[in-house]
Amino acid sequence: MSALFELDAVAVARAGRMVLDGVTLRLDPGERLALVGDNGAGKTTLLRTLVGLETIRSGRLVAFGAERRVERDFREVRIGAGFLFQDPDDQLFSPTVIEDVAFGPLNLGMTRAAATERAEATLTRLGLADLARRLTHRLSGGEKRLVSLACVLAMEPKALLLDEPTTGLDETRLARLIEILAGLDVAMVLVSHDRVFLERLATRAVLLEGGRVRPASLHRHVHVHDHVHIHALDEAHGHDHGDGTA
Ligand SMILES: Nc1ncnc2c1ncn2[C@@H]1O[C@H](COP(=O)(O)OP(=O)(O)O)[C@@H](O)[C@H]1O
Ligand SMILES: [Mg+2]
Repeated sequence: MSALFELDAVAVARAGRMVLDGVTLRLDPGERLALVGDNGAGKTTLLRTLVGLETIRSGRLVAFGAERRVERDFREVRIGAGFLFQDPDDQLFSPTVIEDVAFGPLNLGMTRAAATERAEATLTRLGLADLARRLTHRLSGGEKRLVSLACVLAMEPKALLLDEPTTGLDETRLARLIEILAGLDVAMVLVSHDRVFLERLATRAVLLEGGRVRPASLHRHVHVHDHVHIHALDEAHGHDHGDGTA
């Protein structure tokens, strides 16, 4: 099976310091790879490297069947791999949601009508049809995150690079995100600190530490939870839990 991405001893420096220092890693079709590591470990840098936003100092990157090195090599990679940025404000720049989601398809050469139709279909699939005419800069953080995902999915990528996609999502939207991603037949790199998210989705995990990656395991511990569940009390219908509480 040929890998979508294959890195061999890749080194990348930022501000003069080696952030990636010999990363060897592959992403195969159908995999959902969890990429974990401390703040500042270089997870974002690694995702950026996959789409040519960082310069490789040494080592080799093969993506979608060809070695990629210089800027023009990465055009095809950026179409094939959708990158959900850590900060949605880096992703969204159009006045309205529908324009933002249609931007990628337009850029792929679709007509405005076809791109708008694609954008509407994508928003509907994500349960976001109501947001289509909203002003992007007025959305909440969680809404921006999901609209960013719509922008990425509207391009119908072969691989998804998701940089902390659960940040700012409430429980309902987190569950929706997991359901959406689980239903996609697309390879993914999942960068997240959210254990529930990773345990539900990841098929494999690696840890980025000291500029290198090594295999990691996502433990399915039985935890003793000490947390508070918050439920809305439905006063209008006043349900009875059968134990005297409402
Ligand atoms: N724009 C930047 N310029 C210079 N150094 C940066 C920049 N962004 C991140 N870095 C540095 O690169 C290292 C890795 O950062 P990053 O890839 O963002 O880590 P992570 O995503 O794992 O938190 C950190 O030491 C960080 O300070
Ligand atoms: Mg990061």
